[in-house]
Amino acid sequence: MPPTNRDLTDPSWWRTAVVYQVYPRSFADGNGDGIGDLAGLIDRVPYLARLGIDAVWLSPFYPSALADGGYDVDDYCDVDPRIGTLAQFDELVAALHDQGIRVVVDIVPNHSGSGHRWFQAALAAGPGSSERGRYIFRDGLGTSGELPPSDWVSHFGGSAWTRVPDGQWYLHLFAPEQPDFDWSNPEVREEFHRILRFWADRGVDGFRVDVAHALAKDLTEPFASYPRIHRDVLKDDGTDVLFDRDEVHDIFRGWRSVMDEYDPPRSAVAEAWAAPARLPLYARPDELGQTFEFDLVVEPWDAARFRDSIRNALERARAAGASSTWVLSNHDLVRHASRFGLPAGTDLASWLMTHGTDPVEDREAGLARARAGSLLLLALPGSAYLYQGEELGLPEVADLSFDALEDPIWDRHGHTEKGRDGTRVPLPWTPDGPSFGFGSGGSHLPQPAWFADFAVSVEDADPGSTLNLYRRAIAMRTALLAGDGVRFADDREGVIEVLRDGAWRSITTFGVSAELPDGELLLSSAPIGADRVLPPDATAWIRDAG
Ligand code: GLC
Ligand code: CA
Repeated sequence: MPPTNRDLTDPSWWRTAVVYQVYPRSFADGNGDGIGDLAGLIDRVPYLARLGIDAVWLSPFYPSALADGGYDVDDYCDVDPRIGTLAQFDELVAALHDQGIRVVVDIVPNHSGSGHRWFQAALAAGPGSSERGRYIFRDGLGTSGELPPSDWVSHFGGSAWTRVPDGQWYLHLFAPEQPDFDWSNPEVREEFHRILRFWADRGVDGFRVDVAHALAKDLTEPFASYPRIHRDVLKDDGTDVLFDRDEVHDIFRGWRSVMDEYDPPRSAVAEAWAAPARLPLYARPDELGQTFEFDLVVEPWDAARFRDSIRNALERARAAGASSTWVLSNHDLVRHASRFGLPAGTDLASWLMTHGTDPVEDREAGLARARAGSLLLLALPGSAYLYQGEELGLPEVADLSFDALEDPIWDRHGHTEKGRDGTRVPLPWTPDGPSFGFGSGGSHLPQPAWFADFAVSVEDADPGSTLNLYRRAIAMRTALLAGDGVRFADDREGVIEVLRDGAWRSITTFGVSAELPDGELLLSSAPIGADRVLPPDATAWIRDAG
């Protein structure tokens, strides 16, 4: 077992942490009902400890109608009874803390679920009430208010407005079951301070902030037109109508003062889809501290593109006094073992619509690149956010049948986009048995037969497996990381060579092979022969000679 005596009082732990994202409904099922739960997760704490991670980030486990996989929260201060109880949550925190593993919970502040007591009260109270003032209710346009108040569209397709029986409309930038809060209302601000304290008081160490860039909106009427949500219409000067407005930072300064009431201060990371130059604003020391860097989730497997993305992200973090964040997969993205096995430029949504048959992914290349990419990111300063299953090299389940889909994207896009379920299929723990050891019963999303090859117990027994590579890399990284010092060796076509503090280096090949420099070979993502040649699409860590 790696050392488990990490210091839980260290206030800057998050700067270099390896954070493992758990999607609770799909991690481990303790009671055999096909839905992952806290009991299952508590059972697997030894697995997480052995992996060597510093923290677990839990995607929402709150009571929810599951209109959006739990990101429609009906009660921010409780556990969904299908997932467990608050007492089990406390047990989980204690078990993780015992192993020196910190706990990060997901806070979803842009919208609640439509079952939330505030939204139910708003529906009951009627137009003009203070209850409606916590959300964004407006009269419609047209002669009798039959048209939505603006042309705004939902991220999941269709209008962002839904009409209620008394004729008013409410705003939802996501599903209709996710009504947006009005963050100009002080009551909303107070409520979220209360929610942050509720979890911080229970020992939670940090927060992941869902769609952090959307809270502040320009609600001046008549509403400005915004018929399409896309990167290239987003204004990057803080005056966009719906996203990344300057006022949002005032909200997060308030959060920082709440998080700083604790010792050690609670950490936070923003999920903000904003222009790159504006990302550091969320990460400022008097705000959230970190913001996800999502560049690499859209980049193809290409040395020059990777190098630029990494350099820019490091530079942005430095400018903000933050630490950088590395992400290749999460619960919203096609798993990177599959992404890297597809030709550059493949439209992932169309690929999923063909059940992954056009084009057919190159599983071998995808896995080699995924292993190499993960090792490269683990060699960098900053923190690495891993998504459950990537430590198994798990590919996307692209062949889910249409009738199995749970993601609201499927219905809201009129059955033209499958959505994100292929990355959320419950993990395989054993090569056989019901639901591959996920639980004693079934699995809420069907698992393919090939999951057997990626089962935890299979990989555990194989020294060359991706699981064992992650274990070694994480343990070694923890021992090797010294400071923020990082430099890139001179550009070589197809190679990224990262020098760490004059002590060790990481070399990654993209489609070419490379001769390794002198020095002890610490770790590599692919076998290396006596000739010390790193094959294409591999990463090696070398201790500097002398
Ligand atoms: C974030 C979450 C995503 C969710 C959306 C709405 O992007 O990561 O899963 O659907 O916010 O809450
Ligand atoms: Ca269960």
